[in-house]
Parts: sequence; structure tokens; C-alpha cells
Amino acid sequence: MQNKDTKKKIGILTSGGDAPGMNAAIRAVVRTATFHNIQVLGIRRGFEGLMTADFREMTAKDVSDIIHRGGTILRTARCEDMLTPNGPDKAAQVCQVLALDGLVVIGGDGSLNGAAQLARRGVNVYGIPATIDLDINYSEYTIGFDTAVNTGMDAVNKIRDTSGSHERCSVVEVMGRNCGQIALWCGMAGGAEDVMIPECNEQVMDASRLIRQIMENRGKGKHHNLILVAEGVAENFGDSEALAREIERITGIETRATILGHLQRGGAPTAADRMHAGMMGYKAVELFQNGVQNRVIVMKDGRYDHLDIFEALETEKPYNSRLYDIIKVLSI
Ligand code: F6P
Repeated sequence: MQNKDTKKKIGILTSGGDAPGMNAAIRAVVRTATFHNIQVLGIRRGFEGLMTADFREMTAKDVSDIIHRGGTILRTARCEDMLTPNGPDKAAQVCQVLALDGLVVIGGDGSLNGAAQLARRGVNVYGIPATIDLDINYSEYTIGFDTAVNTGMDAVNKIRDTSGSHERCSVVEVMGRNCGQIALWCGMAGGAEDVMIPECNEQVMDASRLIRQIMENRGKGKHHNLILVAEGVAENFGDSEALAREIERITGIETRATILGHLQRGGAPTAADRMHAGMMGYKAVELFQNGVQNRVIVMKDGRYDHLDIFEALETEKPYNSRLYDIIKVLSI
């Protein structure tokens, strides 16, 4: 048995928008660390809590009964201070005072950038990508995406019923301010007529192509239309209600808007999200245990892998229109 004073110690926090599966990732980190006799400090409210040293020690028992729960038991916050040099300075000092040998950061792109800021200040960090948006360039998967898409698809199924009965056009707004992945996947899985995403410049400010398509669909005998709109596009029209009014005004087809909003951020994680969370959480601690520093756990070519955090953050991923093109073929 190791002496408590010589025991290695890691911190763990969740940051940014929550994502279903974060709890399963916390569980995996705490349990794997406990297995290796590593002490774990659970930091509350992300980087905000780190700056004020708001933490408690976590044991294997503290993460019982959370694998199936949405949200995050550690709470989360969007921490503006991390965008200034002072914030990371303060957070890095706290890591030093707490004598952390490593810090696991579970969150989206902004959070992993925050982790990199700490790495620049000598903190040994491990990033686990978790965001419903799937907008991280260096990983093919982010924890929470599958659950959010399934929630979106379930809503689209229900809207499809009523849209069909009333022969209406339905505009369904899903989350994604800068990224259209949720809209694309919900559009594919829900059989949408069209999908409007921020990556597609011609759609961002102009609905004329969409409206032309809806009119053509009527000519082809389609009784209703399902249009998936990412939040980032809807904002350019005012909101989805305004877009729906514009479609109705020009086409004469009754049009309704539904904004799914934060519904997509909650709920029990799917099996896929629990699987990714378990594997990525395990992998982060395994790397720590093996002395490999400053890594981000990623999905690459369908396999769990890890990248240097600084290199990862420099990765660029051009928009690939293939999924959109296929959705359009399948919606004829
Ligand atoms: O980052 C995930 C996300 O849900 C985005 O899709 C959305 O634009 C944003 O968070 C909403 O953030 P908030 O909950 O802070 O309003």
C-alpha cells in the first residue's frame, strides 16, 4: 500500500456546455484512477471552480449510479476569465498549490483550449472531447453527439406526423451555432427535405434556394416538407419563426417552426456515448499512468487514439459537403 503523501494526484473538471455522457466519463476517470491508487480531486463548475479551488476528493463510490444520467455531477460553467491571461495564470497556480500531477478536462473546443493554456503554464493536462456539437477538428467523435442526435431525431419523427397530417412545411431548429453536424445527422436520420447549416455559405443569409425547392416539391406532389435548420443559420433570419413566416409568405404553404433548444443537451446518454465516455476516460488515466503528458484523447479512423494537445488544437478540418449532397439525393 502506497503512503498517502506519495500517492499521485489528479484533478478532474467538466467545462463549457454540458453533454450527455460527461458523467460516464467522470465515472471512468475516477474508477480507473482509483484502480491505480491515484487520488482524484473533483473540481466543481469547471475552470471557474478551479480558480477558487472549489473541489472535493472523489472515491469510486462517489461515481455510483451516474453512468446513465445526463448533465454533469461536477457542474459546469463557461468561464470568460480563461480567455484572458489572468485566468489561466490563476488556475495554473491553484493546480500547483493543490500539487496536481495531472488535470483531466472534459469539454468542447473552448474548454480544451483552456486546458492548453494551462499546459503552457506547466500543468500536465488530458483533454476528453465532450460536446453535443461534434465541432472539434481533431476528433471524429465528441461525447454527447449521439444522444443529442437521437433526441433530435425523435422530435423530428413526431413533427413529421403532424406536418404530414396538415400538409405543412415544418422548420425544425437544432443546436449548433458554428457547426451543422447535428442538423445534418438529424436531417439524414429524419428524412428531411433540406438542411440549412452554417458551413454552407450560400444558405447562411439567403433562403431563396430553399424556398424554390419547397415549391418544386409541391409540384412533384410532396404534401409536406421537413427542413432542419442549425441555430447558427436561423440567427441570420432573426430566428426560425421569422424564417418560417418568410417561407409561408412566399410559398403560401402553412409553415411552423419548432426550436428544440436545450432539450438536446439533456437526457440519458445513449449506449454509444457511454461506450466512448468509458473508453476515453479510461485512456486518459492510462496515459497519465504511463507518464505520457499533455494529450487529447481522440477518435481517429474509427479508433481511440491520443494527440499532443498543442498539435491537436492546430488541426484544421475543411467542410465536407458529402453528407449534405447525399441528403439532397435521398430527398427527391
Ligand atoms: O456547445 C454546445 C451548445 O449547445 C451549442 O450548440 C449552442 O450554440 C450552445 O452550446 C448554447 O450554449 P448555452 O447553453 O450557454 O446557451
